[in-house]
This record gives sequence, C-alpha cells and structure tokens, in this order.
Amino acid sequence: MIVILLGPPGAGKGTQAKRLEEKYGVVQLSTGDMLRAERNSGSALGRKVQAIMDAGQLVSDDVIIALIADRIDRVAAKGFILDGFPRTVPQAEALDRMLHDKGLMLDRVIEMTVDEAALIDRIAGRFSCANCGASYHDRNHRPKAEGVCDVCGAHDFVRRADDNPTAVKTRLEAYRRQTAPILPYYRNKGILRQVDGMADMDTVTRQIEAILNGQ
Ligand code: AP5
Repeated sequence: MIVILLGPPGAGKGTQAKRLEEKYGVVQLSTGDMLRAERNSGSALGRKVQAIMDAGQLVSDDVIIALIADRIDRVAAKGFILDGFPRTVPQAEALDRMLHDKGLMLDRVIEMTVDEAALIDRIAGRFSCANCGASYHDRNHRPKAEGVCDVCGAHDFVRRADDNPTAVKTRLEAYRRQTAPILPYYRNKGILRQVDGMADMDTVTRQIEAILNGQ
C-alpha cells in the first residue's frame, strides 16, 4: 500500500499516519520528522534547513527529493504512508518518476480538509514526547497519566520551534500557494479522495480506513 496524506499544517497527517502504520504494518515517511532528526543530529543538512523550517518556509525541492528517495528505497517492500511529501508540483512529479522506476504504484491520495481557525488552535496546543515523538494537544489529546507519555512512558515533552503564530501564518501561506496546486494533479489521475479533518480523531481514522478498504 502506498498512500499520501495531504493537508495543511495541523490537519492531523502525522496523527493519522501513525495510526495507519500500526493498523496496516506500513511505514510512515514524514519529511518533517526526517528534517527534524537531521537538525537534532547536528548534521550539515540539519544546519542548512534550520532557519528555513523555523520561519515556516519550504525546504528546496532538490534537498527533499534526495532525502525521501533514499527512504523509499529502504521501505518499498513494506508499503508506506507519505506524510508531508509531496508539497510542490516538482516533488509530485519526482515521486511519480521514483515509483515508476521501482515498478510501484500510488494507491490513494487522501486530502484532509480543515478550517484555518481550528488549525491555529491545534498547532498552538501541540506538544510531543521528547523520546518517541508521540503527539499530544493541551486540550484535545492529553497523555492518560499527566506528564507521562502513553506510548513509551518518558516524562519529557517538547514544543516545535515553528509552532508560533508568525511561522504558522507562513506555513499556511506556503500550503495555499505551493502545495494546494498539486491537488488537481492527483484529481486528474482519479486517485484523490477527501476526508473531513474537522471530525474527531477516531472518526477521521474510520473515514481513511473506509477509503483504503475500497468502501
Ligand atoms: P511538517 O513536520 O510536515 O509539518 P506540517 O505539514 O506543517 O504539519 P504538522 O506536523 O504541523 O501537522 P500534521 O498535519 O501532521 O498534524 P498533527 O497530526 O501533528 O513540516 C515542517 C517543516 O518541514 C515545513 O514547514 C518545511 O519547512 C519542512 N518540510 C517538511 N516536508 C517538506 C517538503 N516535502 N518540502 C519542503 N519542505 C518540507 O496534529 C496537529 C495537532 O492537532 C496535534 O496536537 C494533534 O494531537 C491534534 N489533532 C490531530 N488530529 C485532530 C483531530 N481530528 N481533532 C482534534 N485535534 C487533532
């Protein structure tokens, strides 16, 4: 199974990708997570992208395409969920070429629709486990035991540097200007489906599963 989750910042792509990973045994490929791992490791690439990410702008296509090509090679046999990639028309075209060269096919592109006011609230309230990256929200999704990660039991939580009002505005603008134009690309291929990302998390999961199960 090869699926793209598409939607603006805070739409719930990461949340749903993790659930699908568990349910279907596929691999979540999040370009945002990959870039943050590069930053945390202090690599040359991490240093190069830091300021761009913190400002909420998109990292250049050539960097992203090289990054994802390597990961796709490693997980192709298991199937994967793309979360945060592609984000521009050149990235979508590069993905097509990569899949074609490997004899793979994209099954579905799922657009998660949400309204902007909700996105800002979701992003402002987001925090994640410093150890395993599990995502939480101040109001909608707190750890079951206060201060303890549900997934790994760690006690440290972090907030992202780009989850501030100025960067969020830039990220939303980048989505509107650079990412939304890839929707017609997939609509024309007949593989684009929509889910209501405003519904609660379990309902969104059920909507996505219904699409993947061909209902
Ligand atoms: P990236 O990490 O991909 O960030 P993003 O697209 O801005 O998406 P988010 O991670 O903010 O949101 P999400 O949709 O995953 O929502 P989540 O599930 O966390 O990219 C970061 C940066 O890296 C980019 O700005 C760019 O600089 C660079 N980059 C990455 N990929 C790139 C690419 N391909 N090209 C160029 N640059 C790239 O949920 C958000 C919150 O809401 C959480 O607190 C969650 O608990 C809560 N929530 C989720 N679902 C629901 C629900 N249904 N109801 C209520 N609350 C919910």
